[in-house]
Amino acid sequence: MIDNTRMDVDYVKEADNAAAAPPQPEAFGAGPTAAAPQQEQQDIIDNLEVDLIRADDDSALGSDVSSITTSMRTADIEFRYEHGRRYQASNAMYHLPNDIQEMDRLELQHLIWLELTGGRLYLAPLDQISVTHALDLGTGTGNWAIEFASQHPQVKVLGTDLSPIQPEYVPANCDFVIDDATQEWSFHERFDYIHSRALSMGIADWDKFVDQAYNYLQPGGFLELQGSALWTWGRKVQAVCGTLGIDAAAAQKHGDRLRQRGFQEVNAQCLPCPLGPWAKGQRQKRLGWMARKDLYEGIDAISKKLFLMAGDSEEEVDAFLARCKEELLDPTIHACMPLDIIWGQRPFNQ
Ligand SMILES: C[S@@+](CC[C@H](N)C(=O)[O-])C[C@H]1O[C@@H](n2cnc3c(N)ncnc32)[C@H](O)[C@@H]1O
Repeated sequence: MIDNTRMDVDYVKEADNAAAAPPQPEAFGAGPTAAAPQQEQQDIIDNLEVDLIRADDDSALGSDVSSITTSMRTADIEFRYEHGRRYQASNAMYHLPNDIQEMDRLELQHLIWLELTGGRLYLAPLDQISVTHALDLGTGTGNWAIEFASQHPQVKVLGTDLSPIQPEYVPANCDFVIDDATQEWSFHERFDYIHSRALSMGIADWDKFVDQAYNYLQPGGFLELQGSALWTWGRKVQAVCGTLGIDAAAAQKHGDRLRQRGFQEVNAQCLPCPLGPWAKGQRQKRLGWMARKDLYEGIDAISKKLFLMAGDSEEEVDAFLARCKEELLDPTIHACMPLDIIWGQRPFNQ
């Protein structure tokens, strides 16, 4: 299983000292200028040091991550209930649940990603342009959109999702709509910045997605895609996703995709994250602990329905997932995962 949980990392850049502080309110920070060369990134992940002294039992890390529950707008939205989980009913391809358990997991995931990026919500150099309208596709619980809106009250932020799992009380400049990003987009305005994070399982045709983003960007506007191979930990997950037309490793190809569509200044960062508190250093341990908790609690959400769709029996799936969870807790296994962040700019003259 370790081979399956271990990420196939092609290029990785250490995030330890990535942008030390979150941007100040109302100020856009410049993004990093270029991705590190692949070999350099691989060297960094290879050099994550295993902490032989302390692992799981680090009490300094706290015993749990508090769960955050948001209120939900459920009017007129249909849900499906299967094997104890709740799902949205409008898009047959997206197979992850949208219940409170999943919402809590997304909150944890948000904290992990902020930790990985040094507290930054975006890496694109937004200080180079005037940003008045931003779009977050597949916003989930809306945590990214809400924080971006709070930090930049002058920007109108729109978040879209298949599920109404966003809180009701949000900053005045933040709004949410139910919308399927695989359909033709029909927003009333263009955006200066389009953001999407962890949407790999929801999009089959990324070229179409990138094309629509290009068309809905103002000239000079930025598209930023954040995806992780964490959610594709197993070859089995990738294989079944393939049969559904989903490329579970799509994030690793977004750079080329953006260039092909005509984006310029395309940059990529790959930030490694240990799965479990096996690496040296408090920050690495905190990250590893949170990431492992996220994956441990997300394994059922991500793959149970998927494997059932592939024809496995419920007993087989439960037994397989139980083994995966056991191995995730095995301190001798030093798995790692990357977070890929890719951004590009629509040319000013187009
Ligand atoms: C793993 S969650 C990530 C949520 C959020 N972007 C974040 O990083 O916290 C993926 C979200 O994408 C949404 N989603 C999946 N497919 C979608 C689609 N075709 N259109 C819009 N949203 C979609 C799901 O409902 C879910 O809330």
